[in-house]
Amino acid sequence: MGRGCRGCAGLLLLLVLLRGGAAAGSRAALLCNVSLDSPPEHRWEPVLRFFDPGFLRTAARRIIEESVPEWVRPVLEPLVEKLDYFVPQPFAGEIRGICKSVGMNVGDLILLNLAYESTAFCTSIIAQDKNGNVYHGRNLDYAFQDILGKLTLDVDFLRNDKVVFRGTTFLGYVGLWTGQRPYKFTVSGDERAAGAWWENAVAAFLNLNTPVSWLIRTTLSEAEDFESAAQMLANTPIIASVYYIIGGTSPREGAVITRKRRGPVDIWPLDPLSGEWYRVETNYDHWKAPPPRDDRRTPAIKALNATGQQNINLESLYQVLSVNPVLNNFTIYTTVMSAAFPDKYTTRIRTSV
Ligand SMILES: *[C@@H]1O[C@H](CO)[C@@H](O)[C@H](O)[C@H]1NC(C)=O
Ligand SMILES: *[C@@H]1O[C@H](CO)[C@@H](O)[C@H](O)[C@H]1NC(C)=O
Ligand SMILES: *[C@@H]1O[C@H](CO)[C@@H](O)[C@H](O)[C@H]1NC(C)=O
Repeated sequence: MGRGCRGCAGLLLLLVLLRGGAAAGSRAALLCNVSLDSPPEHRWEPVLRFFDPGFLRTAARRIIEESVPEWVRPVLEPLVEKLDYFVPQPFAGEIRGICKSVGMNVGDLILLNLAYESTAFCTSIIAQDKNGNVYHGRNLDYAFQDILGKLTLDVDFLRNDKVVFRGTTFLGYVGLWTGQRPYKFTVSGDERAAGAWWENAVAAFLNLNTPVSWLIRTTLSEAEDFESAAQMLANTPIIASVYYIIGGTSPREGAVITRKRRGPVDIWPLDPLSGEWYRVETNYDHWKAPPPRDDRRTPAIKALNATGQQNINLESLYQVLSVNPVLNNFTIYTTVMSAAFPDKYTTRIRTSV
């Protein structure tokens, strides 16, 4: 069986050390198994056992209070009553099952899942080395670093005891912002800020559009290759604008897909034959200059230029993602991955700058 998490004892030890005043740094994320052969209502139970339900409930309450506008809760009431109409499987079943295990109500867990959709500031990078290997890295930046660092985990989603895909998430969040389909492709998502996010997203959700992170998970689960993954990510209606960054296993398989709700705005592929061996996406359209108050793009590009195509690999990409302010006080975790080498997938939780 062996379903559960790896690294929990290590995590506890680290927490004790950090509380004792050790220098800030990073630590490996827990790796857990979730079996897609178990019913959605039960599949998170083995993972939930490693966490304190009281901590999750308190965390949820604080994140909802501080980031979800008051009017959203009553508007979503019908959705809670008709969960199976508004929310497709496996998400409805997983949300219901997690609520039951943790002792939360379904409305709050939906609000929490939407809160994570709303304001993530991130950096994603794809790069190709001189031998044609494709690497993909991301920082996920969000408020509540103190809480979310403790809820961040890597999950292997298994069917017949084989890993179908791996993703990085926060416990209780059924979508994925970061993931890998082994030997096929890797995906990350970066928020594309737009005005009136909550109004538009809630309306689109009630219209049965999918949250942006659920589309990442569905793509990881269903797309059999890089091309079909890119098609799904580019064309499926979603509840908000976003950037999807995708990497493959062969040379030139990499692109930044700029999305509006209904479809693609722009597709920006790697172009190593013209010397464009990397693409950096933060939270601004790549054809416009980033605002000076939040320019993480230029420092990332400088660090990539300094690294050089001959030296790029998962370790040096991690270093690029560790340059200030690409790494900043809001960075919760860094993941580096390469679909051709699925075992190299690494997530490190950033404890502070
Ligand atoms: C996850 O499941 C696989 C396949 O059953 C098993 O080999 C592995 O040890 C499990 N990992 C953990 C962390 O339990
Ligand atoms: C990075 O290198 C490219 C290609 O040499 C150059 O055009 C660009 O100006 C450099 N950018 C920065 C920020 O150094
Ligand atoms: C990060 O937080 C530390 C400690 O609170 C602060 O001194 C520093 O200025 C912050 N850094 C940035 C880039 O905001």
